[in-house]
Amino acid sequence: GRTVMLAVDHGYFLGPTTKLESPRKTIAPLIPNADSLMLTRGVLRTSVDANVDTPIVLRISGGTSILKELSNEGITTSIEEAVRLNACAVALSIFVGAEYEKQTLMGLASVVDRAQEYSMPVLAVTAVGKEMARDARYLGLCCRIAAELGANFVKSYYCEDFKKVVEGCPVPIVIAGGKKIEEFEALDMSYKAVQEGAAGVDMGRNIWQSDHPVAMIKAVRAVVHKNATPKEAFDLFNSLKQGKEA
Ligand code: 5RP
Repeated sequence: GRTVMLAVDHGYFLGPTTKLESPRKTIAPLIPNADSLMLTRGVLRTSVDANVDTPIVLRISGGTSILKELSNEGITTSIEEAVRLNACAVALSIFVGAEYEKQTLMGLASVVDRAQEYSMPVLAVTAVGKEMARDARYLGLCCRIAAELGANFVKSYYCEDFKKVVEGCPVPIVIAGGKKIEEFEALDMSYKAVQEGAAGVDMGRNIWQSDHPVAMIKAVRAVVHKNATPKEAFDLFNSLKQGKEA
């Protein structure tokens, strides 16, 4: 009932993000430790071998860049294309409280309608605008709206009183890692999230921007799948980064 999703979709609005400049190089060593890969069709086509059988969560929203209003997203990839690409779920962002809130929420509702025809699960990514507080009240609002509109699971951020966000959301929540922080802090955040009811993580930068990404994803797995404490997971990270199998 838990998952470690590897988020490598950042280029869709950030371009060649640090340490994801060459997606194939970043993704390849992490694949064996990811329960799914979250990416765009461009990166799937060019940077993941066709014989990889790790489930794909296909990002199907975008159309804007870091240089413009982020919430002005639309649907970039059809459900039929997601089926052709053998995706196991589709993901799109919603921007609650932002300028294009309605456009993104109606986009979610419409994607859910179309995805239902193929029993394709939909992940709503509760994207937070620069000026919005990442607190339980706001994130709880985003997650609940996503679930009400039919999302099968929701991606959010960890926050104080995260339990309240979970309680108010009738579908599973996975957390994003956010900007790169120290490895121990990222493991601690993941631990608190799953202990407070998250179904796992959909993490990117805190894995592949680490100097030891394979050790880090293994440590995150220990937290998510084995309930390792932050200290246990950090010890595992340290021993793996020195090349020792723990
Ligand atoms: C952007 C996304 C990213 O996948 C998300 O932010 C997860 O990555 P990170 O752990 O680096 O925050 O969906 O909208």
